[in-house]
Amino acid sequence: MSTNKFRLHYLARTAAGVPRDLVNTFVSAKIHAIRPTVLIYNCTWVCDARCTMCNNWKWGDRKSDMTLEQLEPVMNHPFWGAVENLNISGGEPTTRNDLPQMVELFHRHLPRLRKIGINTTGLTPTRAIPMLTRIVEFCARQEILISVRVSLDGIGDVHNQVRDVKRGFEKASRTIEAMQALAASHDNFQFGIASTIFATNMQDAENILAWARTKGLDVVFNMLRFTDAMLHNKELQETIGFQEREETFMRKFFLDRVQEESVLSGQSFMYLHYADMIANGYQRTMPCPFQSQGLLLNPNGDLHYCENSEKLGNVLDDAAEALYFKAENLMHRQHLKDKVCPTCLSPCQVNVGAMKQFVPYAKFLKRAYQVKRNPQRHTETLPTDSYAAR
Ligand SMILES: C[S@@+](CC[C@H](N)C(=O)[O-])C[C@H]1O[C@@H](n2cnc3c(N)ncnc32)[C@H](O)[C@@H]1O
Ligand code: SF4
Ligand code: SF4
Repeated sequence: MSTNKFRLHYLARTAAGVPRDLVNTFVSAKIHAIRPTVLIYNCTWVCDARCTMCNNWKWGDRKSDMTLEQLEPVMNHPFWGAVENLNISGGEPTTRNDLPQMVELFHRHLPRLRKIGINTTGLTPTRAIPMLTRIVEFCARQEILISVRVSLDGIGDVHNQVRDVKRGFEKASRTIEAMQALAASHDNFQFGIASTIFATNMQDAENILAWARTKGLDVVFNMLRFTDAMLHNKELQETIGFQEREETFMRKFFLDRVQEESVLSGQSFMYLHYADMIANGYQRTMPCPFQSQGLLLNPNGDLHYCENSEKLGNVLDDAAEALYFKAENLMHRQHLKDKVCPTCLSPCQVNVGAMKQFVPYAKFLKRAYQVKRNPQRHTETLPTDSYAAR
């Protein structure tokens, strides 16, 4: 399915939920905590790559991954009834042979599920292609939107080097080709690639873009970030964190993307904010649904509000609902909002939050048009109010 068609489909579904979303935004801000509408499930830390910018592969331990028999009773509770967006990540999700059954389990227990996202290395095509095909076909029958992204951090050897995998580019390309063909025949399926750019592969960023264009592939560029709950990589910040050279390059690179993308696209929203954060000393101006309505579940059952929150507890020991609403944990979430969110780089489900906050979104659109017309004026247009006031 073309990305634009998929976005329209997604927007239509989002619009259908708008009155409820507005009520939720009001209720969560003014009255009491609301149930999660976004969920990230890192289903394993086991991985088929050994990336330079992420340490999850060092934490792979199949024995401590929750089995589906353990996950089923955890999810079998009305607490999860408000989840609309589910992202399955890791580690490498396709290293779990039960990934299709896992998707089916979530479908059984998430009655409001609208969209599933899966990130994959695509590095084991013989396993990943049949598995992902089965998932896409299941979602088509259930009328659920599904988005899959294969990670690609360079063309040819650069990708092999970043991922530390022999013939990694060739292997990922096989999955990419098969998924692209599958997307052409499934309207519920959006397929693309995702790239994380940092010093090692910065010189290849334009090549990735050009390569994706020749293939007609949608591409998302991730902003480099450091988080232990999601990537186990805080210790890497000192060695591979952006220096001035990378900041200058990435700010321009993101602004160039804003120029090309439709301002209505989620990507353009994110890229402008990343360029802003590089220019303003990393003050976040993006909303984030995890501040009020998100959860992150890790392979062994550890539960976090988001990738920067402390562990709230473990769902194998205590009900997720009890952990989510526990007064002490809610105080921690308030602390996150006050102290961590203002400089957080996480993009997780940012578009979900963005579309639900109309005034800030309208302001963004106005500014994005200005910057698109004249990128030299980017610094002049930087917003002065913080994310919290938006
Ligand atoms: C953690 S991986 C998990 C899924 C799968 N293993 C993969 O690589 O696609 C999810 C996404 O995070 C990206 N990523 C890895 N390290 C990152 C970092 N330090 N900053 C931002 N994104 C990162 C990956 O490139 C990938 O697109
Ligand atoms: S980015 Fe993905 S493939 Fe690379 S180590 Fe992390 S989880 Fe594994
Ligand atoms: S710390 Fe980051 S990911 Fe967590 S709620 Fe705040 S903005 Fe969102």
